Amino acid sequence: MLLFKTIKETRDYSEKCRKSGLKIGFVPTMGALHEGHLSLVRRAKSENDIVVCSIFVNPIQFNNPDDLLKYPRTLERDMEMLQEAGCDVVFAPAVEEMYPEKATKEYDFGALANVMEGAFRPGHFNGVGIVVHKLFDITLPHKAYFGEKDFQQLQIIKKLVELEHLDVEIIPCPISRETDGLARSSRNERLTPEMRRAAPYIYMVLQEAGNLAKTNTAAEIEKYVKFKFDSHPLLKLEYFSIASGNDLQPVTGAISEGDMGFIAVFAGEVRLIDNIQLK
Ligand code: PAF
Repeated sequence: MLLFKTIKETRDYSEKCRKSGLKIGFVPTMGALHEGHLSLVRRAKSENDIVVCSIFVNPIQFNNPDDLLKYPRTLERDMEMLQEAGCDVVFAPAVEEMYPEKATKEYDFGALANVMEGAFRPGHFNGVGIVVHKLFDITLPHKAYFGEKDFQQLQIIKKLVELEHLDVEIIPCPISRETDGLARSSRNERLTPEMRRAAPYIYMVLQEAGNLAKTNTAAEIEKYVKFKFDSHPLLKLEYFSIASGNDLQPVTGAISEGDMGFIAVFAGEVRLIDNIQLK
């Protein structure tokens, strides 16, 4: 497995692969890898000739400086895991390599970016758009793999591809869960033992919401989920929202095909997100 730190060596390598007719699969990450990331790498490996993975904690997508500071960084362990999963190239640039100058691009992702994560984390999706666009320009992938835990991010990336006419196929990959149901996330590493024990409650309530969706309206389900967290001693609900999986716009009446439940919860200092298909 190769490790590149510069844009030039990574792009040169990708250009050479493309010229030789090799298909490139790309898995962008911020490191602190877990089984969820590795499942994307394995899938990319099975569908392409070369797998490139980036490890870059992107400062401009963090609206909370403390979250950026505390984001886990475990490059050596990540490299071992990637090697085992069959990754061919790791691109792990420094911040100055990616942003020699302040990034000023402003994307218009429309209504997709105004709800849920977009509403609670101002500037987040613009920062994601900037870095993913740059990473695509550097790694030149045929296919890029994104987990559905960040479902709104996935929709934003699809929109980015459409807006910028990018020649890359976006491959959504199912949420990877621990055996107790907690969605795998790099942030789980920061949970205290007590919060880690509490956190599977999030998916349990989402599943209850899924059952309620057979006979209840979105407003009723949202009220139920709020009640379940109001009475929880540790977990603090930031939002639970029912929205169409297509345009992410809120649903209030009966649940229809493709509607989903989206949740963000604070487990102590750690913010966790998850989602579920309701119908
Ligand atoms: O999902 C992530 O880990 C990040 O948002 C991404 C796509 C690597 C961009 O920094």
